[in-house]
Amino acid sequence: MTDVEIKKGLAGVTVDYTAISKVNPETNSLLYRGYPVQELAATQSFEAVALLLWNGELPTAEELRAFEEYERANRDLDDAVRTVIDLLPLEAHPMDVLRTAVSVLGASAAGVDDNSPAADLAKAKLLFAKIPAMVAYDQRRRRGEALIEPRADLDYARNFLWMTFGEDPDDVVARAFTVSMVLYAEHSFNASTFTARVITSTTADLYSAVVGAIGALKGALHGGANEAVMHILDEIGSAENVGPWLDAALAEKRKIMGFGHRVYKKGDSRVPTMKAALDTLVEHYGAGDLAALYDALEAEFVGRKGIYPNLDYPSGPAYHLMGFDTLTFTPLFVAARVTGWTAHVREQAASNALIRPLSAYNGPDERHIEGYVASE
Ligand code: ACO
Repeated sequence: MTDVEIKKGLAGVTVDYTAISKVNPETNSLLYRGYPVQELAATQSFEAVALLLWNGELPTAEELRAFEEYERANRDLDDAVRTVIDLLPLEAHPMDVLRTAVSVLGASAAGVDDNSPAADLAKAKLLFAKIPAMVAYDQRRRRGEALIEPRADLDYARNFLWMTFGEDPDDVVARAFTVSMVLYAEHSFNASTFTARVITSTTADLYSAVVGAIGALKGALHGGANEAVMHILDEIGSAENVGPWLDAALAEKRKIMGFGHRVYKKGDSRVPTMKAALDTLVEHYGAGDLAALYDALEAEFVGRKGIYPNLDYPSGPAYHLMGFDTLTFTPLFVAARVTGWTAHVREQAASNALIRPLSAYNGPDERHIEGYVASE
């Protein structure tokens, strides 16, 4: 054994600078390129926030218009991607389907190994435009429904909802969806973003980094928590069941999904904004029972453990009310976070150092294969 200090889970370790976002757990604040995320959610489209994350500044009207035009012209499902999705079993987890679909897009794209800043920005924009069709189509095929072609007269959020449900979305729903995308877009060196940076640090291409990041996001301790929140709300059923359910869950030492955070210990800066969006959906859909269950679990768990909700707690039920299948929730997180991941890929590439930490060996002492004699 060695006496080096181990920083399990890299907790508390600062590994690099970033100019993309600032998480301040003391003041419960989150800034994207200096702007409070609440202000961005209240005033900007997701398209504008993506440009802010990639370029460092909010777009001019002309820059935004050009990007919107590009996104609308590239939001269809590629033939190769559709062919591969159709080969996958309907039981495949949508995160596995999306990971595969992004991989197919990367393998069939031109200039995949051009890691110049301009090429990486072009790849980031392509992924931004293409991922909604992958997510929407996968949910539809699992429901036995046909592909819906995108509509160029709709913005990103409305088109995403259109391709998923085949209906013109209500303003309240489109607004709440945009808020969720903006809030999920970026969050410094979380596990999936760090994964993307590790892959980039080897000089592998941006698609490889995004495929790896999707794998990291799938887990229930990270992005998979929004899906897991809905499973526990379904399991509890109604507000009256919260107390006994929590007694049993805590006795079994279960983690209560949607609560707790590695960085925020006094509450997640994004929750009030997403909760307000959830409230608008609750009113729109008349979902008082779900709201009562949500409030009861939060009050009971925070009261007992002093562990606060994270963004996945309000976003899970919000996506449920919008009509998404529970299994589709984490792919929605991907559609948002691909903006932050790709901003970090570009930042990592711009001042790269191979990410390669040390380990302390605690296996058997040196030993030898019986009868082995080294040859001369
Ligand atoms: N339910 C029950 N207990 C919890 C929870 C929870 N959700 N979160 C933390 N705790 C407890 C732990 O059991 C531990 O207790 P102990 O000291 O008695 O062993 C203590 O609080 C510290 O928890 P850790 O897991 O060590 O804290 P860490 O900083 O590593 O974990 C994490 C953060 C992984 C997010 C954790 O809070 C968790 O598992 N939460 C549930 C999953 C979740 O919601 N993830 C989403 C993260 S946010 C996002 O991706 C947008």
